[in-house]
Amino acid sequence: MIVSICVSSAYADDVKADYRVVPLPENIKILGNKPFILDASANIVYANGDSLLQRNATFLAEYVKKSVGLSLVVKSHSANSDRNIFLRIDRKIIGDEAYKIEINQHNIIVSGKTANGVFYGIQTLRKSLPIIQHAENVIMPAAVITDSPRFAYRGMMLDVARHFFPVDFVKEYIDLLALHNMNTFHWHLTDDQGWRIEIKKYPLLTKIGSIRKHTTLGRNSSLDDETPYGGFYTQQQAREIVEYAKERYITVIPEIDMPGHMLGALAAYPELGCTGGPYQVSGNWGVFDDILCAGNEKTYQFIQDVMDELMDIFPSKYIHLGGDEAPKTRWTTCEKCQGLIKSLGIKGDKECTAENRLQGYLVSRIEKYLNQKGRKIIGWDEILEGDVQKSATIMSWRGVEGGIKASRLGHDAIMTPVSYCYFDYYQTDKTWNEPLLIGGNLNIEKTYSYQPVPDSLTAAEKKHIIGVQGNLWTEYIVCPSLAEYQVLPRMAALSEVQWMQYDKKNYADFRKRLERLLQVYKLYGYKYFVEK
Ligand code: ACM
Ligand code: ZN
Repeated sequence: MIVSICVSSAYADDVKADYRVVPLPENIKILGNKPFILDASANIVYANGDSLLQRNATFLAEYVKKSVGLSLVVKSHSANSDRNIFLRIDRKIIGDEAYKIEINQHNIIVSGKTANGVFYGIQTLRKSLPIIQHAENVIMPAAVITDSPRFAYRGMMLDVARHFFPVDFVKEYIDLLALHNMNTFHWHLTDDQGWRIEIKKYPLLTKIGSIRKHTTLGRNSSLDDETPYGGFYTQQQAREIVEYAKERYITVIPEIDMPGHMLGALAAYPELGCTGGPYQVSGNWGVFDDILCAGNEKTYQFIQDVMDELMDIFPSKYIHLGGDEAPKTRWTTCEKCQGLIKSLGIKGDKECTAENRLQGYLVSRIEKYLNQKGRKIIGWDEILEGDVQKSATIMSWRGVEGGIKASRLGHDAIMTPVSYCYFDYYQTDKTWNEPLLIGGNLNIEKTYSYQPVPDSLTAAEKKHIIGVQGNLWTEYIVCPSLAEYQVLPRMAALSEVQWMQYDKKNYADFRKRLERLLQVYKLYGYKYFVEK
C-alpha cells in the first residue's frame, strides 16, 4: 500500500507525463494510485466498426511514436483487457467536443460523446508526454481528466493571396490548429495581389488573376523585385485540404473577399469593374479604389457562379464574403452604381451613405442566394455599415466595437481584433533582429490577456459571441518558416483564450506549461519565436 502511494513520484520527471498541457484541461484530478506504465506492450483499442475512432487511434499511435519512440499496436478489440489505451464513445458526456480521460495502473480510457471529443482527449494525452527519442516506458500518473471548450468557434485564418503557401504547408497549418484544439480554418483565398482558387467557369481568374508581375520591396517602396509571382490551388487540391482538415475535426471556411480587394479578379475580367479597366494584379500592398461594380448584373452572376463552385468544394456551414476595406470612390461616380441606387430607392443619411447601403444590398443579395442553398455568411465588421441582415455573422477585426455592435443588433460575432489577434504584427518591441513585418507590437502576454466577451454586454448579447480567431495576413510573410514563427507560440496563448474559462487563466502558469509545448514544436521542426 505504501509503495502504491509513493510509486508515481518515484520516477524521474523526464519520463513522466504531465497533464497540465496547453490549453489547460478544465479538471485534472491526480489520484495518487499506481500509474499506468506506457511501454511497447500497450495497445490502442477502439470500438469495433467505428471508423472515426479507428482513425483517432492511428493518430494517437503516430503521436506516441513521434514523442517517445514507442510503436503501439492499434486494434479493434483486445484479448487482454489490461495494458490498453481504450478509445470510447460515452453518450452521457455533455458537449460534442468534451472528453474524459481515466488513467489507472491497468488502462487508459479516453471517452467522448463523439469521436471529436475523443480527438481532443488524444491531443491532451499527446501533449502530456515527455519528449524522449527512445523511451522504454513512460509513467502516466493515475488521474481523471474532464474537459470541454469555452467557445464553439476556435479559428485561425491564413492569407494565401499576398503570399502563396503550398498544399503541404496548408496541411501543416491544419496540424497546428489540431495541436492547439482549434476547429476552424479560415482560408483567405483571393485578394488584390492574387486569386488563388481554380474556378472552372472563369479560367482567367487563375490564368491571369493569380499572377502579379512583380512585388514591391519593403513597405511599398518605389523598387520591386522584377519577378513574376503566382500560384493557385486546383479544386482537387482544395478538396484534399478539406478532407485533411475534416479528419482532424477542422472545418475549412473559404473567403472570397468582395466587393473590395478584387484586383485579382478585375485583372482577369475587367468588365466587372466600374471603369472597365484595364486593371493589374497588384504588386503593392494596401487598399485600392478599383472594386467590383455593384451596379452591373454581370457582377452578381459572377459571384453566384463562383459561389456555386465554392459550395461544391467546401461543405462548411459558413462562407466568408469578406467585405472589408472597400472604398466607394468608384461607386460614387459610376453611372451603373448610381443608377442602381436610384432604382432601388436607396437613400443615404447621417448614419450611412447610399454607397455603403449599396454594399449592404450586394452582401444581402449574395447572402440570400447562399441561404437558399443552406449556407450562412460571415463578413468583416465593415458590412455592419450597410444594414445587412441579422443572419450574417460578423468578424470583428478593427477593434472590439464591431463585435459589440453586432451582438447588440442580434448578429453572431467572432472576435478577431487587431489588438490581440493579428499575428502578422511583431511580437516584440525589439524589432531590430526581426524580419521586416507590417508593424505593430503584439506580444504573447497581450494575446493571452484577451477576454473576448465584453462585460458591457447583457447575458443575451454575450451569447452572440460565438468564438475567437487569430489572423495571419501575409504581405510580409514570405515563406512557411516565417508563417510558423509568426503564429508560434502566440497560437498557444490564443488556444487558452478560446478553450478555457477566463477566470481559470493565469499567464505565469501558462508560461510554465508552455515549455513542454515548445518541445513539441521543436520535435516537429516548427520555427517559433523566443523572446531574447
Ligand atoms: C482586415 O484585416 N482587413 C480584415
Ligand atoms: Zn459601378
